[in-house]
Amino acid sequence: MTGRSPITSTTRTLALLGDPVGHSLSPAIQNAAMEAAGLDGVYVALRAVEGDLAGLMRGLAAAGGGGNVTLPHKERAAAAVDRPTEAVRRTGACNTFWYEDGEIHGDNTDVEGLRRAVHAHLQDSLDGARVLILGAGGAARAALAAVLDDGAAEVEIHNRTVERARAVARRLGGSRTRVIETRVDLKGRSYDLVLNATRLGLHPEDPLPLGPEHEVNTPALLDLVYTPGETEWVRQARAAGIHAMDGGEMLVQQGAVAFERWWGIPGPAHVMRAELDRLRRSGV
Ligand SMILES: NC(=O)c1ccc[n+]([C@@H]2O[C@H](COP(=O)([O-])OP(=O)(O)OC[C@H]3O[C@@H](n4cnc5c(N)ncnc54)[C@H](OP(=O)(O)O)[C@@H]3O)[C@@H](O)[C@H]2O)c1
Repeated sequence: MTGRSPITSTTRTLALLGDPVGHSLSPAIQNAAMEAAGLDGVYVALRAVEGDLAGLMRGLAAAGGGGNVTLPHKERAAAAVDRPTEAVRRTGACNTFWYEDGEIHGDNTDVEGLRRAVHAHLQDSLDGARVLILGAGGAARAALAAVLDDGAAEVEIHNRTVERARAVARRLGGSRTRVIETRVDLKGRSYDLVLNATRLGLHPEDPLPLGPEHEVNTPALLDLVYTPGETEWVRQARAAGIHAMDGGEMLVQQGAVAFERWWGIPGPAHVMRAELDRLRRSGV
C-alpha cells in the first residue's frame, strides 16, 4: 500500500496564500500529485491578509518551500518577487513562487495552464484564430497573453466595465486586440473560440456570460469558471452542439506547471485530474 511519507524536518512546505482560501481545491490536487510522485512535501492553504503576503512568501521560500497565490493578492505577489517570469511581467499577476539561488522567483501559470487546456481538449492550435474574451480581470489578462502567444490573429475583449477592457488591451494587447464597447450588439459575430473570464457562473442564479440570444457563432468555448457540477453555460453550449469545457482542466494544467516550477519534474496532470474528478463527484 502506498501513502504519503511522514512529515519531518526535511518536508518542504508549499502554501496557497489568499483570502479566502477555504474553497480551494489546490491543496487536494497538489498533495495527491506529490504523494503519487513520492515527493516529501506538504501543501496547505493559509489565509493571508495583504500586509502579511510579502513576508509569508519570503519566509516560505527561504525555508525551501514555495507556493501559490490567489485572489486578491496576485498583483501584490507580482511586485513581491525578485525574479518575475515574462508571464508575470506581461500580466502584472503572479500565482506561483519558489526559491532559487537566493531569490524568490514568480510565474503566472494561468497563462500556460490555459494554453495547455485549450490544446488538449478544444483546439490543436490557435494560429490565425479569432477569439472573444469575456471579462477584463486577472484571468482575462492571462487568457489574452495565452491566446496571443498561441498565434491568435484577432482577439476581441468584452467586459461589463469597458474602461477595464481598454486597460487590459493597452497593457498587453498590441495590434491584434480590440475592445468591444458594452453597447455594441454581439449578434451574428463569429469566433473560433469564446472564453468566459468573468465571475459569472460561480453561483447558480448568475445569468449566462453570453446567452444564446446573442447568436454568436463559435465551434468551441472555454468557461474559466468551475463549479462542483459543470457550469450552466457549458451545459447549454454542449446541448447546442458546441465543443465546451469548464475551468477544471485549466485548474489542473496551471497546477501541473506550478508543480514543475517547485519540483523540476513535470506535474502529473493525470493524478491531479483524477483527484479533481473525485472531489467534484463528491460535490465539493
Ligand atoms: N480555471 C482556472 O484555473 C482559473 C484561473 C483563474 C481564474 N479563474 C476564474 O476566472 C474568474 C475570474 O477571475 P479573475 O481573477 O479575473 O477575477 P477578477 O479580477 O475579480 O475579475 C472579475 C471579472 O468578472 C466580471 N464580473 C464580475 N461580476 C460580474 C457581473 N455580475 N456581470 C458581468 N461581469 C462580471 C468583472 O467585470 P468588471 O470589470 O465590470 O467588474 C471582471 O471582468 C473567476 O471565476 C475565477 O475563479 C479560473
